[in-house]
Amino acid sequence: MRLGVFVMTAGHHVAAWRHPEAYRGDSLAEYAQLARIAEHAKFDLLFAADTLSARIRNRHAAEHSAHNFSTALFEPLTLISALSALTTKLGFVATASTTFTEAYNLARLFASADHLSGGRVGWNIVTTADPESALNFGMNQVLEHDERYVRADEYVRLVCGLWDSWADEAIVRDHANGKWLDLDKLRFHGHTGDYLKVAGPLNIPRPPQGHPVLVQAGSSGPGRDLAARHADVVFTAGTIKQQAVEFYDDMKARARGFGRDPAKLIIMPGISPIVGSTEEEAKRRLTQLNDGIEIDVAVESLHNFMPDIGVRNFALDEPVPDVAEITQAQQSRQKLAWDMARRERMTMRELALWFAGTRGHNTVVGTPEQIADAMEDFFQGGCDGFNVMPMMFPDIYRDFAEQVVPLLQKRGLFREEYEGSTLRDHLGLERPELV
Ligand SMILES: Cc1cc2nc3c(=O)[nH]c(=O)nc-3n(C[C@H](O)[C@H](O)[C@H](O)COP(=O)(O)O)c2cc1C
Repeated sequence: MRLGVFVMTAGHHVAAWRHPEAYRGDSLAEYAQLARIAEHAKFDLLFAADTLSARIRNRHAAEHSAHNFSTALFEPLTLISALSALTTKLGFVATASTTFTEAYNLARLFASADHLSGGRVGWNIVTTADPESALNFGMNQVLEHDERYVRADEYVRLVCGLWDSWADEAIVRDHANGKWLDLDKLRFHGHTGDYLKVAGPLNIPRPPQGHPVLVQAGSSGPGRDLAARHADVVFTAGTIKQQAVEFYDDMKARARGFGRDPAKLIIMPGISPIVGSTEEEAKRRLTQLNDGIEIDVAVESLHNFMPDIGVRNFALDEPVPDVAEITQAQQSRQKLAWDMARRERMTMRELALWFAGTRGHNTVVGTPEQIADAMEDFFQGGCDGFNVMPMMFPDIYRDFAEQVVPLLQKRGLFREEYEGSTLRDHLGLERPELV
């Protein structure tokens, strides 16, 4: 089983920041502590997501939710670079956008982070759906959904090509003959595609992992195809086992279709565990967090997730209506959430509160044994591991690491020691060869 922790200011629960024990999420010391907890528990990776705009259009929601800012309050690659210097084994994944980062620059940034961390870095490839981000980068709108993925495919190939600019032995450092670099080891001879043009080569040697680990979290058809072609790891949401199994089988089949070994595409759905010494205590912890949610903040966070459905206009205490349109952005997770609300006859209030608490991911509330049981069940055929999304840092996360992880280890599901030193080693992935 693979385990990651997804960091997010005070926690993934929208009201976590109101809890007196919650982290502020604004200092290296706090994130360093989260990384140390992960490394001590032998997690594979720590993930820092990103957005490229401050969502402040709705004044009330902006003033009452810490989630409108960048997810870890900092630019994630800067954050994980600092954290990698304070740890020795833990892997790190940062989000970067194919739409708003120049490919040459992105290749340089992740190559540098991979060198500086000793091969412990991964890139979460996102295309960025949010139109407000476009306004921060001299554009009026983002490209249409499917075209973003066509462009992203070219972009990812280009970045991998740039990382492969130089064969590993290109820098010869031949002191006797005074030769530093062997130009015959140059592998990149320029790229001119439908969207991107780069002369190259990269001015950084090939990263220790060859390619930093590629992560992708798309869930639409084009998003899944991008992952199945290029990704090493897929992050996803999934609230019920049957959906998880369908997603898992579909992704593995797509990988096979692209001529890949499906075992090398690692599927990690999100999970929000809340541990208590009894089930009642765990439920109390969730209720305490939920008591901090303001309904209009919850509705606004649901609206940000599914902007075109008009959730702000629906009556709060009536069952959510049937809606025909699923927007371009977040297509499939939206559908999952809406289907669940229809199936369980939830009111708009219930759906909004549920989303604000869980951000649409699987919530498991109970004793350490109950949580380990639920994870073990999901793991059988539904995933290769989990991206743990604690509702609050540090307590809810620390309790998971200290009380649930040992049970997973005892059951032989999770490592007791790191065997290698790179993120690829942890994930059982080979270093890509230069062909
Ligand atoms: C666990 C997880 C993490 C994600 N992290 C980010 C992120 O940091 N930045 C971002 O813009 N989108 C992020 N996304 C959104 C995805 O990249 C993607 O746009 C979304 O899942 C919808 O899929 P689609 O683009 O195929 O429609 C994340 C999604 C998931 C499930």
